[in-house]
Amino acid sequence: MEKRQLGKDGAHVSVIGFGAWPIGGAMGAVDEGAAISTVHAGLDHGITLIDTAQSYRGSEVIIGKALKDGRRNQVFLATKVSGDYSPDAIRRAMENSLRALQTDHVDLYQIHGWNPQYPIDESMEMMERLRQEGKTRYIGVSNFNVEQMKLAAQTASFHSLQPRYNLLDREIEEDILFYCEAGDIGILPHSPLAKGLLTGKYTPGYQFPADDERSGMPRFQGEEFRRNLAKAEKLKTIAQRRDLTLVQLAIGWQLRLSRITCVLVGAKTPEQVAEHVGGQGWQLTESELQAIEAVLAEG
Ligand SMILES: NC(=O)c1ccc[n+]([C@@H]2O[C@H](COP(=O)([O-])OP(=O)(O)OC[C@H]3O[C@@H](n4cnc5c(N)ncnc54)[C@H](OP(=O)(O)O)[C@@H]3O)[C@@H](O)[C@H]2O)c1
Repeated sequence: MEKRQLGKDGAHVSVIGFGAWPIGGAMGAVDEGAAISTVHAGLDHGITLIDTAQSYRGSEVIIGKALKDGRRNQVFLATKVSGDYSPDAIRRAMENSLRALQTDHVDLYQIHGWNPQYPIDESMEMMERLRQEGKTRYIGVSNFNVEQMKLAAQTASFHSLQPRYNLLDREIEEDILFYCEAGDIGILPHSPLAKGLLTGKYTPGYQFPADDERSGMPRFQGEEFRRNLAKAEKLKTIAQRRDLTLVQLAIGWQLRLSRITCVLVGAKTPEQVAEHVGGQGWQLTESELQAIEAVLAEG
């Protein structure tokens, strides 16, 4: 498994990370035993980074159970404080996360999103304090735009941004990618499979169960769903020409950029993780990249 360095002087982490939102049950219920086996499969395949959050339901508790038998030290453990970014709430969230994860520190502590209700200087000051106390090795932010990152950096430096990025959601290419590259900020893209659109397994008209967040998302219904799946089918053909799956193409396409540190891929089963690992270790050719652009430009 290839590794890349987080930010300017951070740890080296696997280029594929275990995204732990689905094992919390928000994309449909996942049995706890299956969730733990999925985490173990990821580590056995060479994944070293796990990403979770305060708001990922039972995800932190499951990861704590999965790592408690001596595996904690193999892992670069990333979590987030979600929603309330007042200094007291950040400290409380950290203590709760450490308890759930059954560890005395995390490796990366991230502010989950921008919330104008809480002054960013106060939030970042607390993040920095937690770093100095050894509760986290590194600080990160998530879903921040360039202006928000500039403001955050005035109080404390941070090692990473976690933005949404995938073949269908490319907003960060406007300015965020360049800002991060110029500032040596590591990028951990989330939702790399567009939450399942880029797996090639769904067909128009598919109804997600009520306990799956996708049942309420417009892009998984009607005409928008059909349009996205048509694009996915064409991308799948490009993948198959070189014996890749669409999932692997979607991951490897991100890794074409050296400024992407680690692609966070969600998984519910050991088989899914095994497929993710095939998303690294190869390069797309210029003509394949052009073919992908042509499909995406079709609108
Ligand atoms: N910071 C943030 O605001 C934020 C937001 C979203 C996500 N994240 C992070 O990014 C991670 C990844 O995002 P995500 O989990 O939401 O979405 P994702 O990685 O785009 O998609 C994950 C889903 O795709 C399906 N899938 C995965 N591998 C597959 C395979 N090999 N074959 C077929 N289907 C497969 C699974 O659902 P089904 O099998 O049910 O289709 C899985 O739950 C999260 O787990 C989380 O760590 C962060």
